[in-house]
Amino acid sequence: MVIKTNLEHIGEKIDFASYEEKVKEIDASIKNKSGAGADFLGWVNQAEEYLKGEELPRVLKAAKTIQEHYDILVVCGIGGSYLGARAAIEALKGTIPHSGIQIIWLGETFDPAYICQALHYLKDKKFAVNVISKSGTTTETALSFRLLRELLEKRDGKEAARKAIFATTDGEKGALLTLAKKEGYETFRLPSDIGGRYSVQTAVGLLPMAASGIDVTRLLEGSRDAAKEYSNPSLKENAAYQYAVARHHFYEKGKSVELFATYLPSLVQLTEWWKQLYGESEGKEGKSLFPAAATFTTDLHSLGQFIQEGSPIFFETILHLGENAEDISIPLDEENLDGLNYLAGKPLSFVQEKAFQGVLEAHSNIGKTPNIVLELEKMDDYHLGYLFYFFEKACAMSAYLNGLNPFNQPGVEVYKKNMFHLLGKPGY
Ligand code: PA5
Repeated sequence: MVIKTNLEHIGEKIDFASYEEKVKEIDASIKNKSGAGADFLGWVNQAEEYLKGEELPRVLKAAKTIQEHYDILVVCGIGGSYLGARAAIEALKGTIPHSGIQIIWLGETFDPAYICQALHYLKDKKFAVNVISKSGTTTETALSFRLLRELLEKRDGKEAARKAIFATTDGEKGALLTLAKKEGYETFRLPSDIGGRYSVQTAVGLLPMAASGIDVTRLLEGSRDAAKEYSNPSLKENAAYQYAVARHHFYEKGKSVELFATYLPSLVQLTEWWKQLYGESEGKEGKSLFPAAATFTTDLHSLGQFIQEGSPIFFETILHLGENAEDISIPLDEENLDGLNYLAGKPLSFVQEKAFQGVLEAHSNIGKTPNIVLELEKMDDYHLGYLFYFFEKACAMSAYLNGLNPFNQPGVEVYKKNMFHLLGKPGY
């Protein structure tokens, strides 16, 4: 089993039998596309289709072109149009990558200082742009893209800019599709039946990942195999559904926050992706768990006091890896002034594992906070693909258990309307 939902540290036994029928019913509604938001279930078998389809070879070719001709790829997108790629690139290449082209993230903010710094940095560098927007009208992304396009066109000319720009957008409609067609940009498709936060296994996530050197075929194979495993409606066997039911159980018992924690700084962006997935899918109709995240042991030196003894509004979900990507042995120091010789000769992973065990005991047993442990064999391209799908399937199940449409986000429009009105956008 690639991922195990370990419920040994939740301090009780969940009566899974009482959920079985409901889970089967929801599973059937996902399969026969009869539930709320069923027009957005394209992600369910997307990986398998993408592996066989015509776009993957084009993604790989474009990624090669970017690697060969440019030093930097600027990924211009926001929300579901960049979080998955960023999560994967940091998870697999690390936060201080020692190979591959540099990736710069833009299009997710209006901050003039950040955007000016990025443009200043890019002005004399060889860079390509992957602009990603399903709608093409997202203001943060569209504004940054306009500035990037202007920089490229003024500096290198229209033709060179055309070659350096890759657009990922809705396959059928939208402002970016119209612009891309007019300018002749190489264009990748986000199928109309897949929403932004479920789009990491499409060109939205795959092109930046492939350009950064990730084996996206393996990642898709992981998602494809996860789709097979998690199509099993049996709650006894389906680890994604077990996770969905466990979090729903704690919500029903009065918890209002889920704290998702990992032990790897390279997974901070994965927790950002997870926050969006659950926050946008479930935070509606005055319901659902607030998705919060932490990185241990780092955040135990900031939030640790609250987690141990503060208000009991949350449960924890801990991602635990069976293997580390790299390791290092702790050296012996003759003087031992730092008092660390008791660890000499041991690998750092030994310390990390003991920290995990100690924290688990402290939080679940002493602190009485339920801890769900998601055990992932290791973090590589294949396993990350598996994990992405695990969370997506669990999220759909979880939202449906809560009586919600997992695939819309009506609340996001409210700030936009106000902002457009204040900006004087025609029609607002
Ligand atoms: O998940 C979602 O649907 C959102 O986060 C969108 O991805 C985000 O708002 C960006 O939208 P677009 O891709 O249309 O620019």
